[in-house]
Amino acid sequence: MNLNMTLKQNIEKKLHAAFSQVFTEMDWAVTPIDITPSTHERFGHYQCNSAMKLTKLLKMPPRQIAEKITAVIEQDRSFAHIEIAGPGFINMTLSADFLSQYCQQMTQKRPDSDKTDEQVVIDFSSPNVAKEMHVGHLRSTIIGDSLARLLEYLGYPVLRLNHIGDWGTAFGMLIAYIKQYEPGIITHQKEVDLTTLVQFYKAAKKQFDEDAEFKKQSQLEVVKLQQGENEALKAWQVICEISRKAYQEIYDLLDIHLIERGESYYNPQLAEIVADLESKGLIEISDGAKCLFLEGFNNREGEPLPFMLQKSDGGFNYATTDMAAIRHRIQDEKASRIIYVTDAGQATHFAMLFAAAQKAGYLDPSKVRVDHVPFGLVLGPDGKKFKTRSGETERLIDLLTAAVSKAEEILQARNQEAKESYSSDEIKQIAKVLGINAVKYSDLVCNRTHDYTFSYDRMLRFEGNTAAFLMYSFVRIQGIKRKIQGEVSKESIYLVHPSEINLGLHLAQFDEILLSIADDLLMNRLCEYLYQLAEKFNAFFRDCRVEGVPEQNQRLALCELTAHVLKTGLTILGLQTVTRM
Ligand code: ARG
Repeated sequence: MNLNMTLKQNIEKKLHAAFSQVFTEMDWAVTPIDITPSTHERFGHYQCNSAMKLTKLLKMPPRQIAEKITAVIEQDRSFAHIEIAGPGFINMTLSADFLSQYCQQMTQKRPDSDKTDEQVVIDFSSPNVAKEMHVGHLRSTIIGDSLARLLEYLGYPVLRLNHIGDWGTAFGMLIAYIKQYEPGIITHQKEVDLTTLVQFYKAAKKQFDEDAEFKKQSQLEVVKLQQGENEALKAWQVICEISRKAYQEIYDLLDIHLIERGESYYNPQLAEIVADLESKGLIEISDGAKCLFLEGFNNREGEPLPFMLQKSDGGFNYATTDMAAIRHRIQDEKASRIIYVTDAGQATHFAMLFAAAQKAGYLDPSKVRVDHVPFGLVLGPDGKKFKTRSGETERLIDLLTAAVSKAEEILQARNQEAKESYSSDEIKQIAKVLGINAVKYSDLVCNRTHDYTFSYDRMLRFEGNTAAFLMYSFVRIQGIKRKIQGEVSKESIYLVHPSEINLGLHLAQFDEILLSIADDLLMNRLCEYLYQLAEKFNAFFRDCRVEGVPEQNQRLALCELTAHVLKTGLTILGLQTVTRM
C-alpha cells in the first residue's frame, strides 16, 4: 500500500460517511475521489481536485463543495494544514507526525502480502544469431532488465525471455558455406568466435548472390534444416552456440539474466497457427502469400497493410513466430501481462500482432495486458546513428570495456588529486561497476521514446543526474552512518525541520512512483526520483546536523532509510553500489 493510496482510502472513507445522504456508492464509483501529489511545494503535499468534478452531481459551486470536503478531512490527524485555492482545489499538507510514522514503517521489511501470482512475461534483448548484438539490443537489454527488476520488486513472478532470432531461411547459406569451407567447425575441431562467423555470413551472402550452384545448395540446406536432418541441425546448433557465447559475455558484464527461448522454439507450432487462422476464416491470399488484414492498418498510399504469415514459397515469417509466441505465453505460461521491448521501428509490427492475436481469439485484452515498449536510437557525437570510427557498427563488448577503462582513468585521476589511498585493484573493481553503471544509467535516464546521444564523457561525470553522482551519494550516506554508528541505540524517525520533512515526504512517495512506473514503463522517472532523493538528502544534511546533536539517532534513522531507498532504486535500475569511491 503506497502513500497516495493510503490517503485516498482514508479520505474516501470519511467522505462516503459524511455524504451518505446525498451520495450513493454508485455515485462514488462514477466520480472517485481524485488525489494526486502536488506539482509544487507551495500547493502543499497532495492535492484533491474532486470539488470541480462533483459540481454537476451535487448541483453546487465547486468552492462550496471544497469547503464541505475540507470540513470533513480536517478532522483527519494526517494533515497539518488544508487550504482551498482557486475555484476549489484543496491543497493538503501532511503532518510531521504522520510522515514520520509513515517513514518509520518503511524501515520494516516489505510484507509478503505484496506478492501476487499474476505472471508477467518480458521479451527483451533478443539479438539475431550469426550477427553481432548492436546498440539497439543493448537498449532493449538494459530497459527490459530494469522493467523486470521493477515488477519483481513489486511482487510479480517475471519470465525474462530472450526471443533470439535463431531460425529462418538465411541459415541455409551459412550452413552451406561452413560445410564447404569450414567443416572443422561442425565437428568442433576448429573454434571460431562470432566476429569470424559474421565474416563467413557475409562471404556466404556474396556467394549466394553470385553463384547459382551455391544458391541451390543453400536452399537445399534450408529444407534439410526444416526437416530436421542431422547434419544440418548440427551445423545450426554450432552457429547458435558460437553466437550464444558472445552474447553471454555481454550479459555477464551487465549482470543481466535471461532465459533463451528463441524463434526456433515455436517452429513446430507455425503450420498449426496458420491452419488455425485459416479455419477461423481470417486468412486472405495476397500475391500468393497468406495474410491477415486488420482494420486501421494501411500503408502511406492508404492500401491495407498485410500481416504476412506464410510466404508464397511456404516459408513462415517473423509475424508467424510472434503469433505462436503470444499464444504460448498466454495459454501455456498463463501470462497476465506481456511486455515487448524493441526499437520504435517495430511499433507497427506489435500493434498488428496484438490486433491479430485478439482477432484470432488468443488475446483477451480484458484479461491480459500487452505492451510494446518502444525506444529511440542511440546517436553518436555527430548526431547520427551510433557507429565506430571504422564505420562499422560498434561491437557491444568493445563499447562496454571502453566504458570500464575510461571509468578507471577518471578514478585514477581523482585518486591522485585527492591523494586517496586506493590500491589499483580497488580502483579496477570500482571502475568495473562505475563503467557498466554509467552505460546503463545514461540509457535509462532519458525518456526511452527519444533518441539519445552516447557520450562516455557525459555518462561518467560526477556531477548532475549521473550514475557516478548517485553512487557517490550512497557512499557518502554510508560514510555518515559508519562514522556515528556503533555507539548509538536505534531510534525511530522523527521529522521536524522543513528539510527533514521534505526528504521524508519524498521517501514516503517511493512506492507510489514505482507503481506508476509499472503502468507507464518510463524508467527515466525512477532516475529523476533518485536524483531528487540525493538532492533532498544533501539539503537535509546541509541544514540539519546529524552527529553529536540530541536528534542524532532519529536523524541517523532517516539517513539509513534514505540509503535503503537509494540502494533499492539503483538495484531496480540494475545498478550496483560500492562501499568506497
Ligand atoms: N530479434 C528481433 C530484432 O533483433 C527482436 C525480437 C523482439 N521480440 C519479438 N517477440 N518479436 O529486431
